[in-house]
Amino acid sequence: MSRAIFPQDFLWGSASAAYQVEGAHLADGKGLSIWDQWVQLPGKTYKGSNGNTATDHYRRYRQDIALMKEMGLKAYRFSIAWPRIFPQGKGAVNAAGLAFYAQLIDKLRANDIEPVVTLYHWDLPLALQEEYGGWESRQILRDFLNYAKTCFQAFSAQVKYWIVLNEPNIFTQLGYQLALHPPGKTDLRAYLQTYHHTALAHAAVVKLFKEDRYPGYIGSSIAFTPAYAASDKEEDTRALENYYATNCWWLMDIYHRGEYPDLGVAYYTQAGAMPRVLPEDKELLQAARLTDFIGINYYQTAMIAANPSNGVSLGSMNTNGQKGNQGNGVAGLYKTVTNPRVEYTDWGWAIDPDGLRYGMLQLHHRYSLPVFISENGLGAYDKVEGGQIHDPYRINFVRQHIQACHQAIQAGVDLLGYCTWSFTDLFSWLNGYAKRYGFVFIDFEAQLQRIKKDSFYWYQQVIASNGANCIQGE
Ligand code: BG6
Repeated sequence: MSRAIFPQDFLWGSASAAYQVEGAHLADGKGLSIWDQWVQLPGKTYKGSNGNTATDHYRRYRQDIALMKEMGLKAYRFSIAWPRIFPQGKGAVNAAGLAFYAQLIDKLRANDIEPVVTLYHWDLPLALQEEYGGWESRQILRDFLNYAKTCFQAFSAQVKYWIVLNEPNIFTQLGYQLALHPPGKTDLRAYLQTYHHTALAHAAVVKLFKEDRYPGYIGSSIAFTPAYAASDKEEDTRALENYYATNCWWLMDIYHRGEYPDLGVAYYTQAGAMPRVLPEDKELLQAARLTDFIGINYYQTAMIAANPSNGVSLGSMNTNGQKGNQGNGVAGLYKTVTNPRVEYTDWGWAIDPDGLRYGMLQLHHRYSLPVFISENGLGAYDKVEGGQIHDPYRINFVRQHIQACHQAIQAGVDLLGYCTWSFTDLFSWLNGYAKRYGFVFIDFEAQLQRIKKDSFYWYQQVIASNGANCIQGE
């Protein structure tokens, strides 16, 4: 095998999301989002934390971009806050909102950083949730399409990479089945119907993008958790099939093939939870095949075992940073178990770089599309020691995942880019500010001061060597 390094135009990037960094939640005519409301409800977020100020990126973006430039970052993935553009979700455009993102994009371009723009990273305008139930209603298609078109018209001359939706599987499942995100429902059917609407929205936006001939590339990013069977026993390999049919392939086939996998349809029909698919949906979903790339957010793998019909069900998530992996599953289908071959983070996430290689190959074989890794990173506790942050654990984590990317490329995957999560530390939806992901430390106790971590200087070398410093000694 050749030891060639990464493609010359490889997008070495890092990512964020509007609500998690911007702050300025009421500034310059912005409307409220469902998260602005959710964080005010007692007990919904870690120790009542919120993104009202976050890292104040809205006001300090120039400083953050200067740090990106110093690092040599090739791509910065960020999201547009829909309620900054349309404070009520629709109707009158807020010119100040458009102006903010125009300046951000200009500044990135002026510093040779490719903007990768996510249209939706969970901060739905509250007005749409209140008017018709947000994503649970098909009415959202019209408003989302109008918002997307407004963004394309405003920014497409400067933006080549678009991500329509971030992790539609997470915001719908946590919002509609597990009650951990707004609107806090516990209804499997509502989750699946809402997810179906996101797939329609993705297809409609991709169709518009292609029909109106905007230049560039478009896709969506799914949280992808590849999995292994816990043993070679038939019951465990069947459980693995169930997992893929109701999870990974369920989520991705509808986005990339325009249909759900048969085994998943059989299960959800029997469970009385199959989403309502209208005849016209099928036609629209065919447009999903025009998607240019598969975006994935990869953090971990799962190990899957059989689960009897009176077995465990989907449980709570580890939001407290105390080690200990909580198994959960779907009774009668599968359950997750601890993988003895990997280490776990303090939040119970499996650290499994090879799972990224394996997962990308699965995607390559199933969909034959380029892949874009829009998030990958390690959430950890960091300590400031003498004004420095030594984070060898993060360097190791990212290095091993970059090696996995290299191996996937060598095996035939067309990988467009790799974004770490995240550039600066930021607000975590369920873990507040204690769980840190950034190359740049934010001192939340001291005026949001920015401090470069060891990993900052290390990733700088990764980019300068086009990945070669990770591959040596692989
Ligand atoms: C992804 C999201 O789910 O993972 C990010 O797209 C999120 O917004 C990231 O912050 C890490 O999750 P967490 O729960 O550790 O903050």
